[in-house]
Amino acid sequence: MPHFIDIADFSKEALLHMLAEAKRRKAARAGQPKGAVDTDAPLTGRALAMVFEKPSTRTRISFDMAMRQLGGSTMVLNAGDMQLGRGESIEDTARVLGRMVDMVMARVHGHDKIEALAEFAGIPVINGLTDLSHPCQIMADLQTLEEHKGALEGLTVAWVGDCANVTRSWIEAATLLGMCMKIGAPKEYQPEADVLAWAAEKGGDIVVTEDPAEAVKDADCVMTDTWISMHHKEEEKARRIAELMPYQVTPELMAKAKPDAIFMHCLPAHRGEEVAAEVIDGPQSVVFDEAENRLHAQKAVLLHCLGKLV
Ligand code: CP
Ligand code: NVA
Repeated sequence: MPHFIDIADFSKEALLHMLAEAKRRKAARAGQPKGAVDTDAPLTGRALAMVFEKPSTRTRISFDMAMRQLGGSTMVLNAGDMQLGRGESIEDTARVLGRMVDMVMARVHGHDKIEALAEFAGIPVINGLTDLSHPCQIMADLQTLEEHKGALEGLTVAWVGDCANVTRSWIEAATLLGMCMKIGAPKEYQPEADVLAWAAEKGGDIVVTEDPAEAVKDADCVMTDTWISMHHKEEEKARRIAELMPYQVTPELMAKAKPDAIFMHCLPAHRGEEVAAEVIDGPQSVVFDEAENRLHAQKAVLLHCLGKLV
């Protein structure tokens, strides 16, 4: 079953193939109304259910519009409104979804829930973010990076601040696609040992340091993410902000990367926390290209899952 659970499940060729499709579809739609269906309408008659245990703006809108533009239909299911919220098992929920829709995209807490959906639904399942990983975001990030920097192989990307789900999926992508990734974070906020061990075993060029200046040196792209992810506890907020403040992406830190470096952020952003307003709202920032590319990249993911990638 062609699921989309983690970047590490794919080969370099498969990732590049999906990115080429995203690029082709973006170019083909230039100037069209956003509600117009792509001329080939490859997912006509197909239905996607989107299950959300956590809030979402970009993931929800991009998958909904991607599916509509591909000719298919969607439904949004907030987990709290489903029997799932009253204790029905994920396995039974998966079996029911599999009887009535063609594909599921889910944003859940535990990664084991996505794995259970994939095991029991009998239809393709897409990971729309778990506490562990966020592979759909990385497809859009790769598309954005390629648009601004050309070929991905050989680029150096920097990650500064907290290392959570987006970071993990980025480590996987950098490793598979031959990019150097330099991570600057305090010890407690660095990536888990298992993903670093996986990257090392695959020959990845992942550098981890506590020095943010060292991380961004010579980088083609500087990235960060919120310091308080949806799976973090509210009571940790003050401590996390205090400890991560030296890792804010400021104009001074950006100036240590390559002069033409771009700034990326998956959003939502917190100006004055992980990034200074002058950076995210400044000329090096491509965060809204990145947000738009969720739409185009997600189309390639949907087509992959339904065996429609040409
Ligand atoms: N970047 C991202 O996944 O955004 P949402 O949480 O708004 O979906
Ligand atoms: N790390 C963030 C990403 C949001 C898209 C979170 O999990 O909240």
